[in-house]
Amino acid sequence: MRFSPIFDPVSSQATAILRVSVVGFVVAAVIFVGVTVWVVYSLIRFRARLENPEVEKPAFGNLKLEIAWTLVPVLIVIFLFAITARGMRLSDPPADRDPDILVIAHQWWWEIDYLHTGVLTANELHIPVGRKLLLRLESADVIHDFWAPQLGRKIDMVPGHPNSLWIEADRTGAFSGSCGEYCGTQHAWMRFTVFADTPDDFGHWQEAQRLSARVARLGRPLAGQQLFTQLTCVNCHALRGTQNVARVAPDLTHFASRTTLGAGVLPNSPPNLARWLLNPQDVKPGCLMPNFQLNTGQVADLVAYMETLK
Ligand code: CUA
Repeated sequence: MRFSPIFDPVSSQATAILRVSVVGFVVAAVIFVGVTVWVVYSLIRFRARLENPEVEKPAFGNLKLEIAWTLVPVLIVIFLFAITARGMRLSDPPADRDPDILVIAHQWWWEIDYLHTGVLTANELHIPVGRKLLLRLESADVIHDFWAPQLGRKIDMVPGHPNSLWIEADRTGAFSGSCGEYCGTQHAWMRFTVFADTPDDFGHWQEAQRLSARVARLGRPLAGQQLFTQLTCVNCHALRGTQNVARVAPDLTHFASRTTLGAGVLPNSPPNLARWLLNPQDVKPGCLMPNFQLNTGQVADLVAYMETLK
């Protein structure tokens, strides 16, 4: 049975954190049980009784006892300090080279920029299994916090102060993450997923993501593509390969290849996209995409176009 993803680490960094937690918990539990048993025993054993008025005298000035109860806690604290320092070193190795991926936190989504390949996406991070990649973490507005519990430590994303984090996974899979620092009304819907792919899958994904946005030629997709420019979607969203390069909101070049909408608020499906376009404020109140008062025909055209953006 799985209680929480933190008990199922998939990287050496997350395993180091779990080990420190478990050892610390066991030490604390032994002390707690020992003290509780001793207190209960003393309550019964040394209780003043009418039939036995000769209560045992307290032991004062027992040097051996005093040395023991000073030394043992000091040794326990030194031990906990040592395993914590080791855990911190293992879970957060120094960033000794240029980052591979820039992650910029926004209210309330994640911009993901593969610095060496030009891939730009949002809310979904793909990594090759078994390879360590270095993230550079920034924020575009307020303090956020990057946390994928199965992969490693939490780390704050502070405006004007970039942080670094190594990320790796020992097995393939999809590992969820979230923002770990309250950052405004939609903090709870600031989720992301890290996909650890086989090297082949990662290569294919990266090749597909490098391509320019597909150009629509006919029918509803073409109408949607025209609306996309006319309705000022392009003031915030980029489509690579076109002149629309704004980076205010998620890059939509390969929008249809992603699994969720609005940083996890809905699965990415045509009906959900229609719901979102009709009124984003209904789906994710407070998000920075306004209600454009689109009619259902416009929404259908936009959905048809955006579903081609694989
Ligand atoms: Cu971003 Cu909480």
